[in-house]
Amino acid sequence: MSLQGKKLILGITGGIAAYKMNYLVRELIKAGAEVKVILTKSAEDFVSPLTFSTLSKNKVYTGFYDDNKTWNNHVELALWADLILIAPCTANTLAKISYGLCDNFLMAVYMSAKCPVVIAPAMDLDMYVHPTVTRNLQTVESFGHQIIPAEYGELASGLVGQGRLAEPETIFKFIQNQFDSEQNFAGKKFLITAGPTYENIDPVRFIGNHSSGKMGFDLAKEAARRGAEVILISGPSSQKVEDKKITLHKVTSAQEMFDEVFKYYDNIDVAIMSAAVADYTPKVKATEKIKKNENELTIQLVKNRDILRTMGEKKTHQFLVGFALETQNEEENAKGKLVKKNLDMIVLNSLRDEGAGFANATNKIKIFTPAEEQSFSLKSKEEVAQDILNFVAQKL
Ligand code: PMT
Repeated sequence: MSLQGKKLILGITGGIAAYKMNYLVRELIKAGAEVKVILTKSAEDFVSPLTFSTLSKNKVYTGFYDDNKTWNNHVELALWADLILIAPCTANTLAKISYGLCDNFLMAVYMSAKCPVVIAPAMDLDMYVHPTVTRNLQTVESFGHQIIPAEYGELASGLVGQGRLAEPETIFKFIQNQFDSEQNFAGKKFLITAGPTYENIDPVRFIGNHSSGKMGFDLAKEAARRGAEVILISGPSSQKVEDKKITLHKVTSAQEMFDEVFKYYDNIDVAIMSAAVADYTPKVKATEKIKKNENELTIQLVKNRDILRTMGEKKTHQFLVGFALETQNEEENAKGKLVKKNLDMIVLNSLRDEGAGFANATNKIKIFTPAEEQSFSLKSKEEVAQDILNFVAQKL
């Protein structure tokens, strides 16, 4: 329903995964989208224009001129599109996008476009981790383009690793989500916490944890992209905020996070607490560096106030989402926190799942509400943020 009437350009470049785009085009058409396909010269070595013109019910563009020498207007085509998807995107086309190298029809359309651009790279595993590819992916992301990361699995070379084009179902959902999620949080105020807290022992040392802040920052970015105004309260983190709809408040300790949260709590609609807050803090914080005079050192810790639990106690109209980071009895503990902290929803991630939790660029979650639960596969944190916010949107 969300794709009904949407105009999509699919740019296919020369990789073996090009054959998977048949399925994607068919699904997009079935969903009511209008699709125009552009093949690069090397894509034509892998797939035929006839297949795509049949499936898309549109002419397929392979260059600036058709066989009958009619000129294809790249500007007109670019302005026609609601979204441009380049999939599979080879290392070569990625580099062209990154540097603005306009030497074919796809690049001319891309560079004339004003609509969102989504790029799904695919290449062999060593190419995918090559520093130039990493840099080019970061560059195109800084242009505001969205990346559907390559997946892990068996590659055409016979090697196994990251580099496979995301499955057509994943790309389809990603595209659908682009349109579904457009501005569905407009007018809503979100409060999101991120990162670790540091509890000072003395002026030099602290008690902290491995949270990078990425999960919370990705949630903030996604909520803002969907139109929300976001107050992001983060412990120490190197993550950056670019969206003007996000106001970043930096804190260090759990107490500072507590104080900052309650400056805004009354006036927000949704709170998502993804910060890894220290449960304990040193009872006494030494004012000078502690010297290593003794063989043993005992630091007495006292409990920090639980920010989320206090929010649950004071809840009036807010939709309250907690996280649970567990290492054992995961579901039982998460469901316990949902009830004890009076939450509307909790997101469980377990350190027993490879690639989930701290510091990774990926996460694997299960969502619980008082009435339902849903498991998700291992995904990039950007996609996990989308899943969480899709769930929130359904509940609001
Ligand atoms: O930052 P990343 O590297 O991307 O990693 C993301 C993450 C692993 C930190 C994130 O996905 C996550 O799981 N965050 C919650 C970690 C945590 O502290 O979980 P918990 O089960 O101990 O706490 C439960 C909930 O209570 C959390 O929402 C927490 O923010 C909140 N809490 C906890 C203690 C406290 N004093 N105050 C709180 O508000």
